[in-house]
Amino acid sequence: MALNSEFKEILEKEIAGVSQSKLTYAAKELSQRYRSPDRDASNAFMTTEAHHLAYLAVRLPGTYAAIKRVLHEVNNRMAQASIKSVLDVGAGPGTASWVAAGCFSKLQKVTLLEQDAGWFTIGKRMMRAASTKVLQTAEWHQRGQLKASEFPKHDLVIMSYVVGEIPLDLLPALISEGWAATGQIMVVIEPGTPHGFERIRQIRQQLIDSGAQIIAPCPHAGKCPMEKNDWCHFAERLERSVFHMAIKDVCLSYEDEKYSYIAVAKTPVVLPESRILRHPQKHKGHIGFTLCAQNGLEQKIISKKLGDLYKQSRKLEWGDVFPPETIEEDFDESC
Ligand SMILES: C[S@@+](CC[C@H](N)C(=O)[O-])C[C@H]1O[C@@H](n2cnc3c(N)ncnc32)[C@H](O)[C@@H]1O
Repeated sequence: MALNSEFKEILEKEIAGVSQSKLTYAAKELSQRYRSPDRDASNAFMTTEAHHLAYLAVRLPGTYAAIKRVLHEVNNRMAQASIKSVLDVGAGPGTASWVAAGCFSKLQKVTLLEQDAGWFTIGKRMMRAASTKVLQTAEWHQRGQLKASEFPKHDLVIMSYVVGEIPLDLLPALISEGWAATGQIMVVIEPGTPHGFERIRQIRQQLIDSGAQIIAPCPHAGKCPMEKNDWCHFAERLERSVFHMAIKDVCLSYEDEKYSYIAVAKTPVVLPESRILRHPQKHKGHIGFTLCAQNGLEQKIISKKLGDLYKQSRKLEWGDVFPPETIEEDFDESC
């Protein structure tokens, strides 16, 4: 997965001229803040311009990749949905809006809510430089409090990598306001850690209790079967630019962004039989799958004797649905 080329160019212009050592230092500080077990969600994580630029260089490619994959999964189940407006809550530089603008050809309106003045300036400037009208004319609102009563209604409401920064006691109100503002689809994405998943599990239950219909990743709306000490998450591989590698001081030209998510709709969705929860174990003559199925967690072996099903199953990856589906898409793969 790579960034859309225009977005990449605009983003690189923002970073150009800043010393690599400054960005490396800021990226390390950011990473420590996000990983700290006693991080205080009521404090801002990014406090300097260097933190913002380091986020663009080393974190955004990962959040972008996760968002794109999630919207792709949403589209696989809701191809009939016509997304004309997006509300990007806790937008940061507007990552989710950039992905949505690339993926939904009928998009006409983008609204972003962000508390951080730095993002407000940088994100807005980046969008003004876009070639698409929907991004150039995006509405930015600087909101210190994500007060739901202030959320305007949009077809798609997305909270990407933000709920982990909201104090836990404020989360139910934020989710219920997000849901009230949802015209068709609501998506919440978090880092694929035990902590991130616990929030997603809580949000999933709240949304189901509010009448939401599951889109993905779950194949049912029953109790989440994930056992203690385990967490439901997925991974998206993304290319690292030379600059990205230099700032992180690593040699590997890719990284795997791990994420957990929940996507729900206002209207019922046809769900798959199951979803693949781990890398499939591909052996000679058979493949082993760990699945979340209608009746809970399940191990399945598909042997070569099953012919076509075996052949199609060999192409499946972690995060795909099982059994394999042929999907007719109106979704821009290149976004
Ligand atoms: C990790 S960044 C994610 C940015 C972007 N959504 C992405 O996926 O790349 C989290 C963002 O949420 C914003 N945020 C956190 N709490 C907020 C609040 N109470 N009101 C508005 N924005 C908030 C932060 O300022 C930050 O820009």
